[in-house]
Amino acid sequence: MYKNIFDSHSHYDDERFSEDSEELLSSFPENGVSGVISCGVNTETSLQNIELAKKYPFLYAAVGYHGLNTEDVPENYTEVLRELLKKEKVVAVGEIGLDYHYERETRDIQLRIFREQIKIANEYGLPVIVHDREAHEDTLNILKELKPRGVLHCFSGSVETAKEILKLGMYIGLGGAVTFKNAVKPVEVAAFVPEERLLIETDAPYMTPVPFRGKRCTSLHIPYTAEKIAEVRGTTAQHILDITDRNARELFNIK
Ligand code: NI
Repeated sequence: MYKNIFDSHSHYDDERFSEDSEELLSSFPENGVSGVISCGVNTETSLQNIELAKKYPFLYAAVGYHGLNTEDVPENYTEVLRELLKKEKVVAVGEIGLDYHYERETRDIQLRIFREQIKIANEYGLPVIVHDREAHEDTLNILKELKPRGVLHCFSGSVETAKEILKLGMYIGLGGAVTFKNAVKPVEVAAFVPEERLLIETDAPYMTPVPFRGKRCTSLHIPYTAEKIAEVRGTTAQHILDITDRNARELFNIK
């Protein structure tokens, strides 16, 4: 059995967990899960994750406003975010970032709230958890300018883009996509990222690794992703879990 499974990105507020979250989350420690970061995408989900963090010692919350949820951003959201950041076990600003795949038309708002939230994270000395879908150029430019600590989650770029992210001192988060049949870039990136900058994640309930694609994803699926990453790096899955647990604790300042 594996240990030190640290899921650096999930959404346990999601309604797909509402029926059995108690049973599921309670089973994590006995199944080797050492830590979970559960991310909000607006005020409501951020608050839900803060509540979950109170209940489960291994679970920590990230709070923020995702580029895909611009309709949920209240006018005074920066004040709300500052209040959320004061809560216990809030370890990052996230999930934030740009999504031009689903929402090109809200680009200007996305860019504004992304920048504003990074500045607040920097001010509070907290890392950011960044989403980038088909927005590599804008994402990279903003990160270069504002230089937050943090992670590019569900990294979908090339090795070249990964190099740019690493140059900024940021981490690369890899998830179920590395196990997909047609995965090329994620596998190249999985082979390339230096040990000390790699994080492993689910994005639960999304991005379920092979052989469970189509089913709900949970942190218990992480070993499948770790096995694939280990295979392309010529090491063991437990080693990948050990280093990604250590890296997540370092980034999110968790003992
Ligand atoms: Ni996510």
